[in-house]
Amino acid sequence: MPRPIQATIHPEALRANLARLRAAAGDARVWGVVKANAYGHGLVPAFEGLRAADGFALLDLEEAQRLRALDWRGPLLLLEGAFETRDLELCSRLGLWHVVHCEEQIDMLALHKTHAPHRVFLKMNSGMNRLGFKPSAYRSAWTRLNALPQVDEITHMTHFSDADGPLGVAHQVRAFEAATGDLPGERSLSNSAALLRHPGDVALSADWIRPGIAVYGSSPDFPAHDAGHWGLLPAMTLASRVIAVQHLQAGDTVGYGSNFTAPGAMRIGIVACGYADGYPRHCPTGTPVLVQGRRTRTLGRVSMDMIAVDLTELPEAGFGSEATLWGRASSGQVLSIDEVAHAGGTVGYELMCALAPRVPVQVEG
Ligand SMILES: Cc1ncc(COP(=O)(O)O)c(C=O)c1O
Repeated sequence: MPRPIQATIHPEALRANLARLRAAAGDARVWGVVKANAYGHGLVPAFEGLRAADGFALLDLEEAQRLRALDWRGPLLLLEGAFETRDLELCSRLGLWHVVHCEEQIDMLALHKTHAPHRVFLKMNSGMNRLGFKPSAYRSAWTRLNALPQVDEITHMTHFSDADGPLGVAHQVRAFEAATGDLPGERSLSNSAALLRHPGDVALSADWIRPGIAVYGSSPDFPAHDAGHWGLLPAMTLASRVIAVQHLQAGDTVGYGSNFTAPGAMRIGIVACGYADGYPRHCPTGTPVLVQGRRTRTLGRVSMDMIAVDLTELPEAGFGSEATLWGRASSGQVLSIDEVAHAGGTVGYELMCALAPRVPVQVEG
């Protein structure tokens, strides 16, 4: 019998979340952002759940090839563009759209031989200082790109650094508008937080939006707002079972480093899930967990393959009980990945992406 740990992907939740985001997006078309193995959900199940997207945005050519092999004929966008010249050959062959964020990528395009001119997304660095041309350099990059016979249409694009925080997006939208306002072409703006928190700023100028995390049912601005507030459903559940029960007396300790001490008599369960499964080692005592759909807490340090949970108030729980680390319990109760991530000092993004390869994944439905 395999270890009882299991991840479940919920395509129905992906469908519902996409519909929710589309409703917020006005007339803009929606990319399903499926980079990083669809934020850990697996490219194939994510594709199933997100078929209604207008296109898929990703990074790896190999993932783009897989989507074409699944017979996706619609738009595919490489968010970091080409890394070397021969990537452009695959773009031509598979009809991939690609970001151009630096002069070197324009140089590569200028040398590329293609019968089918490319659709490119010219990226502006409007404040993130990661990829893209500064507003002052944007127009000359556009002019150079626009003159190339290898280029068909140019979409203007930028990415927000603070859509989830107090700084917001207005300053970046202003910089973007000022530099692109009189240039022809569509516009692509907006991650999940921008779309949900700043719909007014974004709707004004976006033809294409690029939500990622919200599609997967995680709140882009937890703890300010939780997924329920945004009407999002978890697309991933990580569940396991209690594989042992221990009875503690006052003064007994739990796990490596003995960093939890029982204040009195307690009953604890040992759950088959640890950091080697992708559960964050930094989650302290008190991190929420559902056992048989009821909320309780972890105790002591997370070890490689196991976590201790408090069963003192759950007398019906014992050996074999379901433990939901995040997502939806069989009873329907939900524990948001954001809460667990927050307890561990990180974000839902990291937990999804870090689901370990040893965890078997099933797709619901
Ligand atoms: C260029 C770009 N667009 C869109 C997204 C999606 O962002 P989010 O997952 O926060 O919605 C990302 C993710 O990092 C990105 O890098």
